[in-house]
Amino acid sequence: MGRPESQPQNLSIYIAIPFCQVRCAYCDFNTFAGLDDLMAPYARALAREIRLVGEAAAGRPVHTIFFGGGTPSLLPLLVYQDIFAVLRGAFALTTDCEITLEANPGTVDAAYLLGLRALGVSRLSFGVQSTHASELRLLDRLHSFEDVRQAVALARAAGFDRASHGLNLDLIFGTPHQTLAMWQASLLRVLALEPEHLSLYALSLEHGTPLRSWVQRGLLPMPDADLAAEMYGWAGELLAAHGYGQYEISNWALPEKAEGRSRRSDPQVSDLRLLAPGRYQCRHNLQYWRNRPYLGLGAGAHGCAAGWRYSNVLAPGAYIARLEHGVVGEFPFSPAAVERTRQTRADEMGETMLLGLRLTAEGVGGADFEARFGATLAAAYGRRLRHLRGLGLLAWDEAGARLTPAGRLLGNRVFREFV
Ligand SMILES: C[S@@+](CC[C@H](N)C(=O)[O-])C[C@H]1O[C@@H](n2cnc3c(N)ncnc32)[C@H](O)[C@@H]1O
Ligand code: SF4
Repeated sequence: MGRPESQPQNLSIYIAIPFCQVRCAYCDFNTFAGLDDLMAPYARALAREIRLVGEAAAGRPVHTIFFGGGTPSLLPLLVYQDIFAVLRGAFALTTDCEITLEANPGTVDAAYLLGLRALGVSRLSFGVQSTHASELRLLDRLHSFEDVRQAVALARAAGFDRASHGLNLDLIFGTPHQTLAMWQASLLRVLALEPEHLSLYALSLEHGTPLRSWVQRGLLPMPDADLAAEMYGWAGELLAAHGYGQYEISNWALPEKAEGRSRRSDPQVSDLRLLAPGRYQCRHNLQYWRNRPYLGLGAGAHGCAAGWRYSNVLAPGAYIARLEHGVVGEFPFSPAAVERTRQTRADEMGETMLLGLRLTAEGVGGADFEARFGATLAAAYGRRLRHLRGLGLLAWDEAGARLTPAGRLLGNRVFREFV
């Protein structure tokens, strides 16, 4: 038995930008089309929330920030200039802080991307979803694949390159009418853009979305789970052959060594020691999967810190009103927090398993777990781990526990053992 750790951890910050031009047919994120008039008051409310929570965080270092959506690239650059000034005043950002911004292809130009890079944004994530016009139309996407190519070229020119934290592209597989050949073509075209990071999501038919209702009403065929599994397997092999390492169920990143000489000759990289191994893995999302603390700012944002899980009010109008009138509470809450749940040690242990097992390579480390909770994996979960290992879904040894390839396809079967 070790002693549970007591060191405060670096923080991460998620910032929700809940505005979109249209709602895509599959998406149930907390985001709104047609509320552009609220963008300016929303940005003011966000600035206030950043100040209030930053004051309460009392100088704890922040090593990742993620502007997620919604479509963060809809906010004007001037707004980001204000937000960054407030962020840097309120929080102690580490020197190599990873700052990601989600962007939709077709919403960015050269000046905008250069401006973001100059402010300190170090990683961009573009939602590509598909490279086929028919599929993009079905999903209600506003852009073409040509827009993606242009957006990537502009991002590269603006400095979102291998000396930054890189570029991520999102794709969705398992959509109605999608064939294996279509999926293969999309993935190959996207690979030709040489992103440092790829997120491949199996389509989920979310409640209340048009896509789900079209399938339920028989207007579209039900996605075929066996075909989706085949697509996932094929993608894994292709990406491995192209040098991408899978580190989470839906996420792959290039290792640094794959870019070798070009990086060394890059004048922007003055200090190679800044380029740590695993640089292109999303550190922000790793913070979630390692069950480490993060603050959620903005409408509908979730946070987990100081022994609490919490979430902010969903509607942008209500969020703005709460920030106008509310007063600061105890860290990590702002006046926008509407749900809060205390985390017991048992909750935290279960969540550490549930989240950590998504990390396909590192899994849940035995030594880390013991240092954190003062109990070994065997003492806490021996019976369940043996059972899952017996089913071939989990590998468990001295280093820790991680999913097997079969377990990756049946993740939910594994995760429910730890809920
Ligand atoms: C919150 S969205 C924000 C990205 C950005 N607004 C965009 O659409 O380009 C992040 C990603 O989640 C994925 N996503 C959203 N809804 C999904 C669903 N129902 N099934 C699978 N993936 C989904 C998409 O790949 C999307 O790019
Ligand atoms: S997928 Fe992106 S653009 Fe589409 S509705 Fe969701 S957040 Fe908005």
